Amino acid sequence: MHDFQYKNDTLYCEDIAVSAVAEAVGTPFYLYSAATLTRHFAAFDQAFADIPHITCFAAKSCANIAILRLFAGLGGGTDIVSGGELFRARTAGVDPGKIVYSGVGKTAAEIRTALESGILMLNVESEQELAVIQTVAAGMGLKAPVSFRVNPDVDPKTHAYISTGLAKNKFGIPIGDALRVYLAASKMANIAIKGVSCHIGSQLTLVSPFVESLAKVKGFIAHLAEQGIGITHLDLGGGLGIRYNGEEPPLPSEYARAIKQELGSLHCTLILEPGRVLVGNAGALVTRVLYTKEGLKKFIIVDAGMNDLARPSLYDAFHHIQAVERPNREQAVADVVGPICETGDFLARERPMPKVEADELLAVMSAGAYGFSMSSNYNSRPRVAEVLVHGDAFHVIRARETYETLIQGESIPEFLGKGA
Ligand code: LLP
Repeated sequence: MHDFQYKNDTLYCEDIAVSAVAEAVGTPFYLYSAATLTRHFAAFDQAFADIPHITCFAAKSCANIAILRLFAGLGGGTDIVSGGELFRARTAGVDPGKIVYSGVGKTAAEIRTALESGILMLNVESEQELAVIQTVAAGMGLKAPVSFRVNPDVDPKTHAYISTGLAKNKFGIPIGDALRVYLAASKMANIAIKGVSCHIGSQLTLVSPFVESLAKVKGFIAHLAEQGIGITHLDLGGGLGIRYNGEEPPLPSEYARAIKQELGSLHCTLILEPGRVLVGNAGALVTRVLYTKEGLKKFIIVDAGMNDLARPSLYDAFHHIQAVERPNREQAVADVVGPICETGDFLARERPMPKVEADELLAVMSAGAYGFSMSSNYNSRPRVAEVLVHGDAFHVIRARETYETLIQGESIPEFLGKGA
């Protein structure tokens, strides 16, 4: 559940009217509820309270340093996938001992910075990456803590673009090859094997693929033990889905129960990397209607576009869109579209929408995960503000970009002359 609720036909986030925030910061903007974030973290984390574990929030889903700090303050860590996310996590004050670093393409420089920071472990995705880590660690005179991301070849039954655990996906080391890689790593002077990791996809709405992949990983851990390789950490990645439009994903408690049952007597610290399930329904994108027009179809043209929320265009994702005031009025089927010069720029298509007029506010719901974090400057649009509500107060946690920010770092070489 989340803290976006109507009071007298006006949408509130916790105790703040969404329209009051729009008045203060302009539109569009992302709005997050600290209460929802906190409750979601607690529900997830407490579901694993009876076993050693670290809930490492997947920064890629919503990387604002205030959000990273919020979760760190609740005892969480961070799952990062780039040097930029490491910088964010460190700036937010996340304990480096609770940072895990995933991703298929870490550079030597990123690996070095991660090792300097003393992160918990690097989740290694290829033999070549392992060789680079060995070289970097040797140069620094330390042992790099690593786990290997194995690819269990399990179908997560989700959108093809966000499936990662199939043999045909680019992620991880095929589980059949992994033993050889572990044995090689165990002989490397500057590698400390800590664990095994696995992440099969995102927006999973069934528990069975998680259990199936854990069963395979468990079998693999037994093989490792037979070879004298013990591990202290098992990283199960993220992926638990949320409800966008009638899906019925397992509750964190159900997910945790299934995982713990399959774990059985395996003793190690569990690392979990939830992203979407913590932030998805804790955030909304608030946008203003600019115009409406009717021809063959009815269009509601709003001031947020695919550069602000890419998910509908990219994955054909569904986000509920509701009027901020008087949500229960007569409806008409419409496309909700942005100002970007592409037909693919839509937030909703052929959707029954309240009959809204220019200047009214709309809230695009469930936009907390992979919303702002995937936004871009396409069409030279400054990225929008992010606002965090806490009770009856709101805080701008990222200022709206300006035109100056748009051209930051750009320059015109002298040979092009002075211009008009
Ligand atoms: N750990 C790893 C290694 C991952 O690759 C991901 C997501 C997560 C954790 C967090 O997964 P979550 O709990 O959020 O499902 N942009 C897409 C989602 C991409 C997910 C990429 N990896 C979307 O908007 O649906």
